[in-house]
Amino acid sequence: MASSSRPVQSVTNAELYNRWAKVYDTDGNILQSVDDLMLPALLDHVFALLPSDLPIRVIELGCGTGRNTAKLLSPKFSSPQISSIAALDLSPGMLTVAKERCENYLTANASGALLAPPVVEFYEFDALNQEPSPEIKALEGKADLVFSTLVLEHLPIDVFFRAITSFLKPTGGYVLLTNMHAEMGRISQAGFVDEVTGEKIRGHSYAHEISEVIEEGRKWGFEVVGEVGERGIQQADVGTVVGERGKKWIGVNVWYGFVMRFEEVRQSERAGQ
Ligand SMILES: C[S@@+](CC[C@H](N)C(=O)[O-])C[C@H]1O[C@@H](n2cnc3c(N)ncnc32)[C@H](O)[C@@H]1O
Repeated sequence: MASSSRPVQSVTNAELYNRWAKVYDTDGNILQSVDDLMLPALLDHVFALLPSDLPIRVIELGCGTGRNTAKLLSPKFSSPQISSIAALDLSPGMLTVAKERCENYLTANASGALLAPPVVEFYEFDALNQEPSPEIKALEGKADLVFSTLVLEHLPIDVFFRAITSFLKPTGGYVLLTNMHAEMGRISQAGFVDEVTGEKIRGHSYAHEISEVIEEGRKWGFEVVGEVGERGIQQADVGTVVGERGKKWIGVNVWYGFVMRFEEVRQSERAGQ
C-alpha cells in the first residue's frame, strides 16, 4: 500500500468528526462511495423483513452527517413504513449537518410523496458512555430497527451490541450494519486531510473481522439474516464507483454489511447462561 509522508495528527473520535464534518460529504472518501453502492440492497432486504402494516421506529447509531438518514426519508421506506427516526451521534458538528440535510429534504418534499413524513429527532450520544442521558434512556427498548453505517470500527464489538440491544424492543427487531472491512482497517483508519494544515487527522479505530462481529452478536441474541455482503475495489471501480483515491485500494476488501435479527428467546437464553 502506498505510504504517505504527510504529517499525521491523532485526536479523539469526537474531535476527528467535529473537524471532519465540514468536508465529510465532499472529500472523496472511498468507503462512503462503496457504502452508497451497497446499501440500497440491504435496505430493501431489511424493510422486506419488517412488518409492512405497523409503524416502524428506527434508531440510527452514529448518523454522522445524515448521509444515510436522508435515504430512510425517501418515500420508498418512510411512507408509510417508518413513523420515527432517532438519529444519534457522538459529534455535535456532524449532527448539525445531519439536521440541516434532513430538514432540507423534508421541506423540499413537503408537498410530494411524503404525505406523513416520519418524525426525525437528533441526539448527542456516546456509545462508550455507560450512563446515558435521560433523553437517550427514554429511547431504550423502543426501536424495531437499529441502523448503523460505518460506525462499528470506532467501538469495541461488545459495546456496539450492548447499545443496539438497549435500543431494540425486548420482543425483537433488526440491526442493519455496515463497516470498514478488517482488510482495510488493518492498513488504514478513518480520517481526513485538513486542507489548512495539510495534516492527516485520525481518530481511534478497530479492525473487526466479520467472524468476530457475528460471534459477538450471537452472544447478545443476534443471528445473520440473508447474505453477508463484502466489497473490494476493482480496477473498473476507479473513476466510476470511487475517485482516484480508490487506486491504492485495488484488490483490497474495504466494506462489509449485513442484517441481523434479534430475538427475545435468544436474549432470555443468554440471561439464563
Ligand atoms: C464514518 S462516520 C459514519 C457516519 C454515517 N453513519 C455514514 O455512514 O456516513 C462514523 C460516525 O460514528 C460516530 N461515532 C464515533 N464514535 C462514536 C461513539 N462512541 N458513539 C456514537 N457515535 C460515534 C462519529 O461521530 C461519526 O459520525
